Amino acid sequence: MDIIMKRTHMCGVLTEKNIDENVVLNGWIQKRRNLGGLIFCDLRDKTGIVQIVFDDTIPEELFQKADSLRSEFVVGIKGTVKERQAKNKELTTGDIEVFAKELMIYSEAETPPIYIKDDDDASENLRLKYRYLDLRKGKMQRNLTFRHQIAKVARDFFDSEGFTDVETPILCKPTPEGARDYLVPSRVNPGAFYALPQSPQLFKQLLMVSGTDRYYQIAKCFRDEDLRADRQPEFTQIDLEMSFVDVDDVIEVQERFLKKLFQELMNTEIQLPLPRYSYQEAMERFGSDKPDTRFGFELKSLNETIKDSEFPVFANALAAGGDVRGINIEGAAEKFSRKDIDKLQEAIKHFGAKGLVWIKIGETETTSSASKFFPPDKMKKITDVFGGKTGDLILIVADKAKVVFDSLGFLRRDMAGKLGLLDDRRYELLWVVDFPLFEYDDETGEYSAMHHPFTSPRLEDLPKLDTAPGEVRARAYDIVLNGVELGGGSIRIHDSSLQRKMFQVLGLSEETVKNKFGFLLEAFKYGTPPHGGLAYGLDRLVMLLAGEHSIREVMAFPKNQAAMDLVSEAPTAVPDEQLDELGIRVVE
Ligand code: AMO
Repeated sequence: MDIIMKRTHMCGVLTEKNIDENVVLNGWIQKRRNLGGLIFCDLRDKTGIVQIVFDDTIPEELFQKADSLRSEFVVGIKGTVKERQAKNKELTTGDIEVFAKELMIYSEAETPPIYIKDDDDASENLRLKYRYLDLRKGKMQRNLTFRHQIAKVARDFFDSEGFTDVETPILCKPTPEGARDYLVPSRVNPGAFYALPQSPQLFKQLLMVSGTDRYYQIAKCFRDEDLRADRQPEFTQIDLEMSFVDVDDVIEVQERFLKKLFQELMNTEIQLPLPRYSYQEAMERFGSDKPDTRFGFELKSLNETIKDSEFPVFANALAAGGDVRGINIEGAAEKFSRKDIDKLQEAIKHFGAKGLVWIKIGETETTSSASKFFPPDKMKKITDVFGGKTGDLILIVADKAKVVFDSLGFLRRDMAGKLGLLDDRRYELLWVVDFPLFEYDDETGEYSAMHHPFTSPRLEDLPKLDTAPGEVRARAYDIVLNGVELGGGSIRIHDSSLQRKMFQVLGLSEETVKNKFGFLLEAFKYGTPPHGGLAYGLDRLVMLLAGEHSIREVMAFPKNQAAMDLVSEAPTAVPDEQLDELGIRVVE
């Protein structure tokens, strides 16, 4: 007897064109119904579902066997395709059904702990524990296939542009991306640790020193940071680096890649060049360095309009060198109650905001949480800044610039979400360029690199490295899609004296520099081409294009919120002998 029934078709591809053909299908039983003389089964594989019929023309023994089928049994079926009487418009195979003549049960199945259907509402932890069952769902299989297709377009594109796929090490030294490292103890070198790469950054720069000229890799990266919907401890980048390039050269290649990607997989033409916003403009207009431009609600400054105001919230913010800015949520005055606004106020505390001033422009009067301080004529001046009209809701934050931008940036997108303005099928791609080179930490009084310490400053800003480091702009760029940072990169410093200067401003001692990046600086001594590159977050790219809201939906085996792999139950404790071998003792 055959061990398998050799498949002729996948389930989801059968249509009217196959009518009268004899077919052999393999798959899982989605469900079985016995209507007396007829048994209907839905048979599923990764391409879809098709209806199988066992009728009274088949031998009794086969009918009995069919009656023993349960959900998730794995079977082979031989039969004939026939036109379906009661058509099912929801299925691609809904015009046909297969009349079975043979049935082979490959394996039986216990009742699965989750339903195998797209709209199953099992908790995420249960889904992740039984991920192999969760992945049987049509939507999850489509996401995996779609991810594969995106990776393939990337490989084909970068290959055709002369990029070489090079694998870089997983056991390495800490990379400079600024998150916490995952460490791996070395048995051969007791007491010494490898770090898992946060990105292939240093190796891809070494490849440029090696003359590889154009490198790309679909690379696993590891960062021990707090999890969010768009962050995982282990994720994938489409990583690349190019020699002899400036910002425009890197951007130009990426734009052609994105155009091809959208053409091939989304059936969408993107207009090139993509819009570019300076960091400054992005912050001032959208309160974010990853602006979502699918809707308006742009920020407006009130600094000038309210400069003589006695309203303490505004006056104090300005006196402390801060900012007063707001957004107009057009037509929303009646849609948000006082209670709703209180909730918004609560939400922005997270960004350090102490309060939120609101103005509602009504039919007959304008009401506001600050109406005591602004008589109607002054209030009108404020609402005019926002082009305010009847029915509008204006939200204002007064604080340090960073708090104002973060709060309004959040409110802008939050309100758009609540008003249903975030259309998943619209794609707004843009570049943010000219990031500040350094970030200043108020608490430590120190500068840190906003991107990483190898990012080149804009050459015209070089004189400010000594005098005003906070004003130096970087040759760095981020690609943003619908308000999500898809990728980022920069032109790197290839001049060792400039690199030394950079470390100085960052307050890194020679010792630290030598220890952390000595090998890169050593390599740079032997002839380094000007170079730069970028990395996309592949998971985020797939998430957005698949219309998902979490990268976990587009990863086969993601970690849960507690950074655990629930399928294999990692991480786990290990036997003492294994720790002894590594010279490690766990402190309770
Ligand atoms: P960066 O740190 O900006 O740059 O990372 C590039 C892109 O990777 C994605 N990403 C993540 N995705 C999921 N989970 C995470 N924890 C996570 N962290 C980052 C984002 C991000 O835009 N070496 C540089 C690139 C370069 O300069 O060429 C780098 O890693 O989409």
